[in-house]
Amino acid sequence: MTELPAAPAQPFVITKEYRRFVEFCEACRRDRYIGLCYGAPGVGKTLSARSYARWDRIERYALRHREAATIPADVAACRTVFFTAPVVCSPRQLSDELSFAGHRLTQAVEDALALAATPDTAPARRIAGWMELLIIDEADRLKLIALETVRDHYDQGQIGLVLMGMPGIEKRMARYPQLYSRVGFVHHFRPLSEAEVRFILARHWTHLGLTADTADFTDAETLAAIIRITNGNFRLLQRLFAQIARVLTINQLQSVTREVVEAARESLVIGVM
Ligand SMILES: Nc1ncnc2c1ncn2[C@@H]1O[C@H](COP(=O)(O)OP(=O)(O)OP(=O)(O)O)[C@@H](O)[C@H]1O
Ligand SMILES: [Mg+2]
Repeated sequence: MTELPAAPAQPFVITKEYRRFVEFCEACRRDRYIGLCYGAPGVGKTLSARSYARWDRIERYALRHREAATIPADVAACRTVFFTAPVVCSPRQLSDELSFAGHRLTQAVEDALALAATPDTAPARRIAGWMELLIIDEADRLKLIALETVRDHYDQGQIGLVLMGMPGIEKRMARYPQLYSRVGFVHHFRPLSEAEVRFILARHWTHLGLTADTADFTDAETLAAIIRITNGNFRLLQRLFAQIARVLTINQLQSVTREVVEAARESLVIGVM
């Protein structure tokens, strides 16, 4: 049996939805507003926010105990903190964790600026830190007291704030008038469009060692089945493809057909999206 190559780690795809999300974050940052972002599970909210904040780089740097020589130069331009709301947390802990995350960003930015500084230019410093936008993922977890803590950080820091969560978060937040009155923008993070699914499929197809010929009836039918099953949801696409690879390997098949897709679908537990 020929082993299929393991699907490589998926590169981040700049989608239309990601561009809209970036615009929304920039607006919250510029106007120092609170923005609410909601979207179905698996559409890519977390990954987009981490990517926008370039948080992987900052986190990796912090974990390396700040070896300044290893800081990527583009971190100097970072102004966003990405924070995941904890499941349970006292207001004090939350406040400390938020401060710590802001501190991490400021350290990373200052080290990157210092690395870029020449003997004639002193590295720039900001007493108040470099955070201009705070993105809180899984904001649905925050209850009233935690939201008060977040609001306090927002007010004191004069920063923009983005709260991300499941659809309905905008209604839940409306129950807290003090917070809600500061909301400037609401953003719906939508699933991928059909054209984008096609584009991503074309990439995956090659990852699976297959070629897509949409002119071919079987492939057009297969594409349609995948689009219908996943409904533009990134996580479902990924999981469906993992199953497709499995079905191909088990059955020693070389081409993805509608039957293969249907068989792969059978082994997925698909919730209502
Ligand atoms: N732009 C992208 N490029 C490549 N892969 C992506 C992209 N966005 C999302 N994905 C893939 O989809 C999966 C789900 O994305 P993510 O965790 O960001 O969704 P989410 O909207 O935060 O879901 P949840 O509401 O369950 O937290 C990711 O693990 C990732 O592999
Ligand atoms: Mg998420």
